Amino acid sequence: MITFEGVTKRYDDGTVAVDNLNLQVPTGAITVFVGPSGCGKTTSLRMINRMIDATEGRILLDDEDVRAIDPPTLRRGIGYVIQQSGLFPHRKIVDNVATVPYLLGWDKKKARARAMELLERVGLDTKLAERYPFQLSGGQQQRVGVARALAADPPVLLMDEPFSAVDPVVRTSLQDELLRLQSELRKTIVFVTHDIDEAIKLGDTVAVFRVGGHLAQVADPATLLAEPADDFVEGFLGKDRGIRRLSFVPARGLAVRSEPAVPGWKVVLDDDRRPLGWSSGNGAADVDRLMPFGTFDLENDSLRAALDAALLAPSGCAIAVDGEGRFTGVVTRQALDEALARATGAVSDG
Ligand SMILES: Nc1ncnc2c1ncn2[C@@H]1O[C@H](COP(=O)(O)OP(=O)(O)O)[C@@H](O)[C@H]1O
Ligand SMILES: [Mg+2]
Repeated sequence: MITFEGVTKRYDDGTVAVDNLNLQVPTGAITVFVGPSGCGKTTSLRMINRMIDATEGRILLDDEDVRAIDPPTLRRGIGYVIQQSGLFPHRKIVDNVATVPYLLGWDKKKARARAMELLERVGLDTKLAERYPFQLSGGQQQRVGVARALAADPPVLLMDEPFSAVDPVVRTSLQDELLRLQSELRKTIVFVTHDIDEAIKLGDTVAVFRVGGHLAQVADPATLLAEPADDFVEGFLGKDRGIRRLSFVPARGLAVRSEPAVPGWKVVLDDDRRPLGWSSGNGAADVDRLMPFGTFDLENDSLRAALDAALLAPSGCAIAVDGEGRFTGVVTRQALDEALARATGAVSDG
């Protein structure tokens, strides 16, 4: 656990970047600091590993004041990833990743073996190990940055806009990769971003900052979307808040009809019971004239995915499938409406 206790940072020119911050960052989870530019996110982050020292208040790392730990020791237990990967340009990728192990005095063979293992872990081909940073794409460099931060297996990872400089497709895959890694590693991660969608996707907890280094709200993403604390947070969350909330409601529990048909429409399945499309009418299906369909995974998807599947189909119904994409049932509009009403609190749960 990382605890901010009444932390204020006043720079030499008088700028108050962070003002009396009180916040707890739980162990083993991702906490996202999000807010507009200049609201004190980076300053707050860097006070944890003492790249910046607080003017007032204190930061505790598992009950120990970080000011009582000398910076090199402190930073050995804290990985740090920044936007422009910060790789050493004249060092090979493998040696970049092994930077901290070398500093810790590991023998070269062990450090390199660890680096190779980490390259694989972050989804990079180990053939890249002998290259130099400029020979990698931006997205690959960011992965190397993450691998390097993880090299000495620190319990804490600080990430400052690590994916902001790459294109949206690469950013999405880096985000997915981080979530996958985190499900194995369970680090205490503080992740800074100005992108609220990224915050909602990655955060177990989201801390919304406003300019002046004030905390506007701390909540899990579903609560943030459902109950923004004030107009600032609501505005920052942006449009489609209602729909986006549904991403956090499991589809599991929807009423599913096992019959692959609804009045006027039926689902045509292949021999493996995978849906091929909707067919109108009740006669024999013309396989060349099937209508589009949407599916969702009943066990693993959200209500939002189910709604999306329904909206894609001419029948207005969503097709539920299992993890292998096989038909498990049809969800009617009425069943969806009832689930939506329950999810949004429009009717009581009964
Ligand atoms: N070294 C510095 N000296 C003076 N002011 C600074 C310094 N670093 C940051 N600031 C100011 O502190 C505020 C917070 O900055 P920062 O923590 O970088 O915000 P963010 O990461 O949210 O964009 C901003 O007003 C910024 O201009
Ligand atoms: Mg910043």
